[in-house]
Amino acid sequence: MTKHVLCAARELAVGEHRVFDVDGRSIGVYNVGGEFLAIRNRCPHQGGPLCEGVQVGALISEEPGTYIYDRPGEVVRCPWHAWEFDLRTGTSWFDPEHQRVKFYEVQVLTGEDVAGLMPPRPGMLPGPYRAEIVPVSVEDAYLVIDVGHIPKG
Ligand code: FES
Repeated sequence: MTKHVLCAARELAVGEHRVFDVDGRSIGVYNVGGEFLAIRNRCPHQGGPLCEGVQVGALISEEPGTYIYDRPGEVVRCPWHAWEFDLRTGTSWFDPEHQRVKFYEVQVLTGEDVAGLMPPRPGMLPGPYRAEIVPVSVEDAYLVIDVGHIPKG
């Protein structure tokens, strides 16, 4: 199973990020303006803890003396040597063709959808007796990451 439930969506407020261990991978999940973006917490340069770096935006200049600060919070700067990576695509800003960090799609699913992700227990068969069941609804939303699916950037 490559899908993993991380936490309730409300636990990661706008502007915050948190690092999760997902099947032995350290992955940082960011709430950027209500959108959830995820990258591997390992810098492709020398393996630095990328998600300990600051979040910044893109600084764009078309001529000397002018600049535009764009896409606030969508770029992460590695704390070791300051290489910067785009949270949406994992690409670096200095060498986008060759340097990138893995990034992942984060889904926001309802509690009922999350319950459907639970695998059946192997070897269990239905018995002859039935207990009384009561319908229960789970009304929260959850962050779910699929480490087996790499989105195109
Ligand atoms: S280890 Fe990240 S920039 Fe060097």
